[in-house]
Amino acid sequence: MASTVGCGLSFGLSSPPKPLKTSTLGTGVTRRMVAVRAEGGAINPEIRKTEDKVVDAVVVTELAKPLTAYCRCWRSGTFPLCDGSHVKHNKATGDNVGPLLLKKQ
Ligand code: FES
Repeated sequence: MASTVGCGLSFGLSSPPKPLKTSTLGTGVTRRMVAVRAEGGAINPEIRKTEDKVVDAVVVTELAKPLTAYCRCWRSGTFPLCDGSHVKHNKATGDNVGPLLLKKQ
C-alpha cells in the first residue's frame, strides 16, 4: 500500500502508519506524529551510484538556522531531519544515500 505524507513524499507500507502522539503545540491546531521507516535494503537503487554518498544542497535566503539537513534515508529518529542514521544504513546495505542540506545564504 502506498501512502502520501503531508509534504508530498510517498512510501510503501504494509499497513498505514500508526499515530504516535497528538499535540496541539499551544496553537489550537492538532498535529499527529507518525513513525515512518523504510524496510529492506538500499533506498537509492540508481541515483549517482558512483558517489560514496549522495548529498544535495539548496541555498535559501530565508531560514531560521544557517544549515538544516533533511533525511532521505528514512532511518532518522528525528525524521524529517537527518540525525546521521544514514551512515549506519549505508554501511549495512552498501547504499550511498545522504541528506538534503538547506543552507542559508
Ligand atoms: S539520517 Fe537519513 S539522511 Fe541522514
